[in-house]
Amino acid sequence: MLAVLHWLVALLIIAMLAIGFFALAIMPNDDPHKIDILEVHMAAGMLILVLMFIRFIVRMCTARPPQLSTGNRLFDRIAPIAHYGFYVLILLIVGTGYATGILARLPAIVFARSGQPLPLSFATLPTWTVHRALAIALVGLIVLHVVAACYHQFIKKDGLFRRMLFG
Ligand code: HEM
Repeated sequence: MLAVLHWLVALLIIAMLAIGFFALAIMPNDDPHKIDILEVHMAAGMLILVLMFIRFIVRMCTARPPQLSTGNRLFDRIAPIAHYGFYVLILLIVGTGYATGILARLPAIVFARSGQPLPLSFATLPTWTVHRALAIALVGLIVLHVVAACYHQFIKKDGLFRRMLFG
């Protein structure tokens, strides 16, 4: 269950980053298709929040396999901080996304299709600047996470991939 939720959330987050950086960021706000993409982006953001909450509860309530050691005390201390960092970062990204949406009156424009145009740009909103900066930080944390997983799998050879694929 934990492994399934991990991969589901991972896929959704990578899709959200791709939609954000490769679609939303390069589309002008007067492009009529931007509202459709924002609808997917905002709805998927809420889904991620719900799935992460469920995963957090399941993680707290079920037995977890013991933490794998890297053999290095510093790395072993960083690992749980980085894992909780994912929860904090994603909560903040969703929060700043919502705040941007509310400041720009997106629920009416995007979900209720009020017919009003999108604001000329989101760049004037400080919440958008933070949303973007946190999304960039999330990319960095994901790269670190993948490098650490590969270190376990290929250098320590402790079968981490099998554990994460099959629970
Ligand atoms: C895990 C969840 C999320 C991730 C990873 C994410 C990521 C991103 C990224 C990478 C961008 C493009 C930033 C740029 O322009 O360079 C973006 C833009 C945006 N996001 Fe999110 N986002 C998430 C959730 C949300 C939620 C829940 C909302 C609102 C309810 C939201 C609203 C927006 C808005 C309004 C923009 C501005 C579109 C634009 O750049 O023109 N996001 N997001």
